Amino acid sequence: MSTAPFIVTTQDQLRAQIQAWKMQGERIGFVPTMGALHAGHLSLIHQAKQHADKIVASIYINPTQFSEGEDLGTYPRSEEKDAKMLCEAGCDLIYIPTGSLYGEHHATSLHVGGAALGLETDYRPHFFGGVALIVTKLLNRVQPDVAVFGEKDYQQLLTIRRITSDLDIPVEIFGAPIVRENDGLAMSSRNQYFDTKGRAIAGQLNIIMRSCAQEISETRNIKHATDTAIDALLEAGFTSVDYVSVADAVSLEVLPHSLGDNEARLLIAATCKGVRLIDNCAID
Ligand code: PAJ
Repeated sequence: MSTAPFIVTTQDQLRAQIQAWKMQGERIGFVPTMGALHAGHLSLIHQAKQHADKIVASIYINPTQFSEGEDLGTYPRSEEKDAKMLCEAGCDLIYIPTGSLYGEHHATSLHVGGAALGLETDYRPHFFGGVALIVTKLLNRVQPDVAVFGEKDYQQLLTIRRITSDLDIPVEIFGAPIVRENDGLAMSSRNQYFDTKGRAIAGQLNIIMRSCAQEISETRNIKHATDTAIDALLEAGFTSVDYVSVADAVSLEVLPHSLGDNEARLLIAATCKGVRLIDNCAID
């Protein structure tokens, strides 16, 4: 039985608790989220517990990573349920800031490069600037020893590694494997937007991705396999495909033609019934 975690809403409360733990020599693990939690988020808590003594999770729907026309206003919220799930997963402190984390006179932005370029940035140019800002702010507020991010958002994970390294933020970043539904669909807070038909189509994404990765690992020919996957996605009922790309697993430089010797990752973004899905997997 784990004890109930505290919920704190102000930076003063947060800092007081974290300082008390640090004085006792506890290592702090941190898992930032936007709420509407599922087993994928909880797996990050479990992973954090392997590297730290006290686990802090945050729930904050960060406005700067949404653009006009995206789902900021309707992003699912379920704080009470989230708190219960975090408690059961063994989280020690939940930070749910009230109001905006951006001051009235906030005027700072972060320009991110490296792995943040291309892929998601081609379709959501505002996104990584917003993620960079909020993750930097949250890391500065929590000052954890370790922080865990999901491979579900693979480009985000690499971007956060780059930011913390470039800005000398003293935290160790861990990546956690993607947690999936029974049919392979990567768990996502946005999956609850689907009706039954949309959900069935969404389930095809992982199947098509796996067979694309398999073909590439057998033939080493990227173009044929990714073109086939795009056709298969459209045939399955996806309304648009932003990208099916293979990239170097560390630099995220897109490999257009054939696999080299370096580790490679297949990354996909496609929209089904108005819901944009992303997924990725390693290529063996
Ligand atoms: P959110 O989408 O709530 O995700 C929070 C964390 O959970 C991220 O690190 C994400 O990669 C991870 N995650 C989501 N679904 C997962 C799955 N199926 N398996 C494993 N991990 C999964 O990502 C964000 O929020 C925000 O951009 C944030 C980093 C909190 C900044 O606002």
